[in-house]
Amino acid sequence: MASVPLVPAEVGRAVIDPKSYGAWDPLLDQFDDLRRAAPVARIVAPNDEHEPFWLISGFDAAMKVSKDNATFLNNPKSAVFTLRVGDMLARSITGGSPHLVESLVAMDAPKHPKLRRLTQEWFMPKNLSRLDAEIRKIANEAIDRMLAAGDGREGEGDFMSLVAAPYPLHVVMQILGVPPEDEAKMLFLTQQMFGGQDEDMNKSGLKDLPPEQISAIVAGAVAEFERYFASLAAERRNNPGEDVATVIANAMIDGEPMSDRDTAGYYIIVASAGHDTTSASSSGAALALARDPDLFARAKADRSLLPGIVEEAIRWTTPVQHFMRTAAADVELAGQQIAKDDWLMINYVAANHDPAQFPNPRAFEATRPANRHLAFGAGSHQCLGLHLARLEMRILLDVLLDRVESLELAGEPRRVNSTFVGGFKQLPLRWKAA
Ligand code: HEM
Repeated sequence: MASVPLVPAEVGRAVIDPKSYGAWDPLLDQFDDLRRAAPVARIVAPNDEHEPFWLISGFDAAMKVSKDNATFLNNPKSAVFTLRVGDMLARSITGGSPHLVESLVAMDAPKHPKLRRLTQEWFMPKNLSRLDAEIRKIANEAIDRMLAAGDGREGEGDFMSLVAAPYPLHVVMQILGVPPEDEAKMLFLTQQMFGGQDEDMNKSGLKDLPPEQISAIVAGAVAEFERYFASLAAERRNNPGEDVATVIANAMIDGEPMSDRDTAGYYIIVASAGHDTTSASSSGAALALARDPDLFARAKADRSLLPGIVEEAIRWTTPVQHFMRTAAADVELAGQQIAKDDWLMINYVAANHDPAQFPNPRAFEATRPANRHLAFGAGSHQCLGLHLARLEMRILLDVLLDRVESLELAGEPRRVNSTFVGGFKQLPLRWKAA
């Protein structure tokens, strides 16, 4: 039998190092080398800091794993990469589950499709079109904020903090029925909750604390979320509206109301999956337009280019950089023998830069034919919010192109150091108002 392709220790370390995703190009080079050698290869931590896993860097294998939801499961082990210390922390908080939050990404059939079905219709384009005007209003407010950072005619500032970060957050909070005065609290709780598990997402200073204290803070954030959403759900049961918050609050599973933990998990996944992802791809689109005046001029004159630009920005940025799966049975994948219970990383960054699928993958090509990327995943967990994300981006770019005459880079963009949700944390732009 052929020997197992082992990823060299320093490359394995780079794949799980948040800073690699901040640096980007050297990591893409490493993925190219890895993919050429073996699109599915094994990473074993030299000091056992994490459970060994199979890294999937080839597009075809990533698609296969994503679509085979009977063989590759989300629930048995963490669906997001975590070191052993993070895994132990989650299990100590939850009483044994590797998932801090009981959300869609932590579930498999038969529970997953039952919960997913509840909101599937709500997130379809037909229903979302009702939100068009409201989203456009929020996009205009974001561009107002940007233009106000200049003298009205021209200006310079960080597109991320002025526009790309607050805009999707505001949209998602609106559909969840969270009032504007509670948005800061939601952000803070999200950061605390993720902060204990993954130090690169830690914006609340947790990483220097002893484990018991981290554990208490993370558990406190989860409990606070559950309390907040239990009361929001109770409110929506009394006063139903047309938002997704109402759908979740009134959901029945097998004739019973959803448990508080499932209800909170549903709100939390929509709240957390719905903002920094779309922020990242929106700033990716703005960067591409700022770097390419010809593309900017063509898009300004012809908005039918927007869907292509949006799709390419999502592939090119790949905001969600990985998800993990656990094998339910022994199975062969791209010539490798995967054993039952093995952990696998679908690396979307690597898959979306596979030259066999995307010629010249590092280039931004607004008219890439059949841009069948994996940034939204595939199979039964494929992003529930993909139509909303595309709609938000299309509207934002439409408003931006209406109100801005030109756009250019005013400094070096900086990427987030994160293995999970990446993208840009700073995007300095200079603009002239239209
Ligand atoms: C460009 C923006 C976005 C990207 C790149 C993105 C990416 C992803 C990915 C890769 C997955 C996992 C897919 C898989 O396992 O096959 C996912 C799941 C999910 N996303 Fe998104 N997402 C985005 C925006 C949104 C938005 C706006 C929402 C909702 C407001 C959302 C809600 C969800 C939910 C609820 C899931 C879990 C689905 C399930 O497990 O059944 N996402 N997303």
